[in-house]
Amino acid sequence: MSDPYSNLAAQEIELQERIADAMEARCLEPAQVAIRKAYLSNLDLPPDAKALELGSGTGHVTRDLIKVAGAASAHGIEPSPVMVARANRDFGDDPRLSFSQGDAKATGLPDSSVDMVLLHTLLCHVPGPQDVLTEVHRILKPGGVLAICDGDYDTATAQIADFDPLDQLVRFMIDQNVTNLWIMRQITGLLTQVGFDLGPSTGHGYVAEGEAGYFLTVIDRGADRMVEDGLLFSETGAALKEEARRRVAENRFFGFMSYVSQIARKPADG
Ligand SMILES: C[S@@+](CC[C@H](N)C(=O)[O-])C[C@H]1O[C@@H](n2cnc3c(N)ncnc32)[C@H](O)[C@@H]1O
Repeated sequence: MSDPYSNLAAQEIELQERIADAMEARCLEPAQVAIRKAYLSNLDLPPDAKALELGSGTGHVTRDLIKVAGAASAHGIEPSPVMVARANRDFGDDPRLSFSQGDAKATGLPDSSVDMVLLHTLLCHVPGPQDVLTEVHRILKPGGVLAICDGDYDTATAQIADFDPLDQLVRFMIDQNVTNLWIMRQITGLLTQVGFDLGPSTGHGYVAEGEAGYFLTVIDRGADRMVEDGLLFSETGAALKEEARRRVAENRFFGFMSYVSQIARKPADG
């Protein structure tokens, strides 16, 4: 099975729900909240700014467009009906927020109609990311802002010593769940090709803290996938999951990944 996030709507409902739980766990971790705050504050949006998140998942990050970036309204577009239902369940009461099913490559929105677009951990899952950037360029107003943030996935690790078997689960999970590991190392070239002006680029170190909620979902999904693929016996998968939990309980767990954010603008005369 290739990256399930690249075609989430086609996956079993149970898998979509499991991925939604993992996304929610990640969104709520204080270290992840801090990363979003670091690159979404100070974007200098107009007072009545209309913002859009493509690949909006459970909607937590879409809400940041209002809470952190200061947009007046925000809409999330997302192909998975499970995600859209969760976003509507959790945030549907706020009249400034809305969500719909759709594709980042063909939003159906008019030309030059939004002030800001956010792509938070979307592009690593999309085959042909330049098609998304071309669509964003079309729908942004001249001078509009594009904010992108994604993992620098080759840095993901749970390794605490040489030959640590837990690290293999993390690497396997990333290999099986990310379409382009190198997207943030290629992003400036892609943005320039599409016609964006480049703004600040920032690295953000993410260290799993406390209960390591999100990192445990990575370990668990890596172990389960190895068992499904017949690479591990189920008892071995369960033992590795237990190893991760013991490390958390005994304050010996380490989980890390770098994220990179990139701000860009559609030229004012574009
Ligand atoms: C890792 S999740 C990130 C969700 C959210 N941005 C967050 O950070 O919590 C990636 C999301 O992108 C969505 N996605 C994948 N391909 C897409 C496409 N072509 N257009 C729009 N969304 C897409 C997936 O369904 C998934 O919900």
